[in-house]
Amino acid sequence: MDKFLIKGPNRLNGSISIGGAKNAVLPLMTACIIHPGKYILNNVPILRDTITMAKLLEMVGAQVEIYKNSFLINTKNCNKPYAPYDLVSTMRASFYVLGPFMSRFKEAQVSLPGGCAWGPRPVDFHIKALEKMGAQINLTDGYIKASGRLKGANIIFDKSSVGATGNIMMAAVNAKGTTKIENSALEPEIDCLMNFLNTMGANINRDSNNNIIIKGESKFRDNFEFDVIPDRIEAGTFMIATAMCKGKVKLNNVNPNHLSIVIDKLIQSGSNIVINNNSLTIESKNRPKPVDIDTLIYPGYPTDLQAQWMALMSIANGSSKIIDNIYTDRFTHIAELERLGANISLNSNIATINGVKSLKGAQVMSTDIRASASLVIAGLFADKDTEISRIYHIDRGYENIENKFSKLGAKITRIKK
Ligand code: EPZ
Repeated sequence: MDKFLIKGPNRLNGSISIGGAKNAVLPLMTACIIHPGKYILNNVPILRDTITMAKLLEMVGAQVEIYKNSFLINTKNCNKPYAPYDLVSTMRASFYVLGPFMSRFKEAQVSLPGGCAWGPRPVDFHIKALEKMGAQINLTDGYIKASGRLKGANIIFDKSSVGATGNIMMAAVNAKGTTKIENSALEPEIDCLMNFLNTMGANINRDSNNNIIIKGESKFRDNFEFDVIPDRIEAGTFMIATAMCKGKVKLNNVNPNHLSIVIDKLIQSGSNIVINNNSLTIESKNRPKPVDIDTLIYPGYPTDLQAQWMALMSIANGSSKIIDNIYTDRFTHIAELERLGANISLNSNIATINGVKSLKGAQVMSTDIRASASLVIAGLFADKDTEISRIYHIDRGYENIENKFSKLGAKITRIKK
């Protein structure tokens, strides 16, 4: 298994381009199943997860051709609404085929995704909503078997869910009648999916209360191109890395509107940020000030930048608190950051970070996509050598992260095992 070797400390200077959003493109890829057609997705990041999703589409009967960061997806011959355990268990987003299968085939056999590095990841909202739309569903042998001609319904999620909102939107575009989703996710990735589905011919809008209204039985187009939105989590990761290592970095191909709270928190901690319409420049000269965060649904502070913020706060000039309200057990990175010298205590879903002046390189282990990113950031700052193992986790969510950091002057190399 590959490792990263980082020689610290590092300053970061220069400019890089941010890739397309992983959490936007994954549902866009499954949405191509809904109607037989030839679709071109541009600004697609080449990641383990986007390659895994391409393999899943091919298992369903699609053809996927990759040209640099464009995916050509031909779903004319899709004929197998089945997503196996060995694939779904490696990538929860595979579950996004459920809605498209029901839209196109009126049946689906999809493995339950199981848990992940930091705990259970239920899908009860997806199942209850489909049942309310008239699907017959039974759970046998770890699989969801669903069938039936869906009809529009009023869906109210107990709490906001990105995946459930996306799946039900995709299920509803071919349902008989209108579907309303209350307490829907507001993440930009969901609005990107909504824009894709409307480009495909669907009729989806948000009402004045941000509820999503989907008129069913759409008349679809079968051939168009679509650009994926920039990845706000990749952008936030590089911004936090610059705040921690100090220096001046320009990020191109970003949407600053998707990063408002992250920008605000970084300015509070002492960084200087200049915003243009599709780029931003962050400059950091001093040790960060301690700033608390509470993760919340969008537009609140994203849970996917929680681990990265913890790395930054580990060297802040004082104590800070991080509360993860979305995933109350997403803290596997604490033990690894402590190996680098961080001083962190955890009580339930509340981490208290007592900032230290310096970190010292060590051998550490990745446990999930964003925990890995926090270890890279901390390793870049730490004195001496840091070796990060199991970096297949980071390759799931970041394209060429070591090349981008090297371009900014960091001493980071991939050791192929
Ligand atoms: C998406 O996961 C993202 N993944 C996650 O990013 C992200 O952390 C998460 O949203 C929250 O923003 C993709 O988009 C591929 P949820 P998802 O359904 O859709 C509970 C990364 O690092 N819930 O919004 O699975 C759930 O347990 C990944 O890129 C139910 O209880 O998240 C959680 O507490 C990690 N029942 C909350 O809702 C359900 O049926 C939010 O989960 C569904 C969710």
